[in-house]
Amino acid sequence: MLEEFQYILCLLKSAAMGFSVSTGRREFLRFLAASPLAAGLGIEAWAQQNSPAIQRAADALSVSDFEALTKDMLPPAHLGYLISGVDDDATLKINRDGFQHFQLRPRRLVDVSKPDLRTEIFGVPWETPIFLCPVGGQKMFNGDGEVAVARAAKAKKATQILSTVSSSPVEAVAQALGGPPWYQMYMPVNWAGTETMVRRAEAAGCPVLVWTVDLLGGRNTETASRMRRADTRNCLSCHTDGVGSLKGRPMLDGIEGGINPPAASWAFMDRLRKLTNTTRMKLIIKGIDTAEDARLCREHGADAVLVSNHGGRATDTLRSTIDSLTEVVDAIGNQVPVLVDSGFRRGTDIYKALALGARAVGIGRPYIYGLTAFGQEGVERVLDILRAELRLTMQQCGTPAIKDITRTAVQRA
Ligand SMILES: Cc1cc2nc3c(=O)[nH]c(=O)nc-3n(C[C@H](O)[C@H](O)[C@H](O)COP(=O)(O)O)c2cc1C
Repeated sequence: MLEEFQYILCLLKSAAMGFSVSTGRREFLRFLAASPLAAGLGIEAWAQQNSPAIQRAADALSVSDFEALTKDMLPPAHLGYLISGVDDDATLKINRDGFQHFQLRPRRLVDVSKPDLRTEIFGVPWETPIFLCPVGGQKMFNGDGEVAVARAAKAKKATQILSTVSSSPVEAVAQALGGPPWYQMYMPVNWAGTETMVRRAEAAGCPVLVWTVDLLGGRNTETASRMRRADTRNCLSCHTDGVGSLKGRPMLDGIEGGINPPAASWAFMDRLRKLTNTTRMKLIIKGIDTAEDARLCREHGADAVLVSNHGGRATDTLRSTIDSLTEVVDAIGNQVPVLVDSGFRRGTDIYKALALGARAVGIGRPYIYGLTAFGQEGVERVLDILRAELRLTMQQCGTPAIKDITRTAVQRA
């Protein structure tokens, strides 16, 4: 409100200066008509409406630019799958709101001329702490799907996690990426299926297995279902096995009985740990939101945890992950890396998570917006934007290296 008031004052001042008697009343009125005053818009909305259309990936200035493009490009059913949460979509919103609970504490007069975003996970150097989360069915958003993302990840030296329900096989993705991705597992219901899946990931060279444990009880994708009903296309012409069927997903080839056993317990974790020990894959548990479960992950041999609420797609009215992060870091952060995802859209969001002790931050929808809008180039641009925003935040806050970003860099609001 204050911002808008200041803007109006500024506008009136410039009008008074620039539109003297000689310029004429008509021109002044034309000027006013084109202003946010006349449109009744906030400055931000006005700037967005009046900036030239985005023609190329390079024209996009923020993740939300790509989000807006995506909303215009995808049919309702696919858009619904991408953007929705569950029930009332509360967790989806809470994830974003959570970042407002933390404010930055910048330090001044630190030499920030050489910002260094590099970090390390499991002894492997990373260019930046930002990675690409597993997202299923990416050919829905671009004909090359996960392979286009792999090309972008290769160009930008980013870690890609491939989903169990991907539309491209791990072997093709590994080829495009120039090395194996991390592999995300939805555990098959039959143990034989789990063994088959893990062995396939191992054979492709995947160094890390990420077991997602936050969908074992199922979910209520209400908004996505409503948007699907609004889609006038004949879905069955493409989804010949029925809408939502996982038949034909290449990583489920030869796996019977479905995925995500609701009976899964820590005993399943022990069994999986034994199996991955024989493959020498690192094991990360994705979907941990409490200190209690983080400790159990350690007791049962996890090599890292990923604090996640599935981008608000699993259970409604959870805490934001930025709000859950601290207790997980305090419980196990001195033993293993803690990663986090869900709702990250800005460099400042990422910075806050690093300050609270996350080793790396995952993005899901942001790179899919880029993929939808401009394919590989769009994914690269999204990574560039977030990296640039993080770099800027590091410089402006007097923390030139990742190790400098500590808890003193943020304050709970
Ligand atoms: C369309 C879509 C599909 C997803 N598919 C998977 C998946 O197959 N496996 C998985 O573990 N997480 C999946 N996720 C969750 C992401 O890995 C990640 O946790 C989440 O997207 C992060 O939140 P963000 O989208 O706000 O960045 C999916 C997310 C989206 C948006």
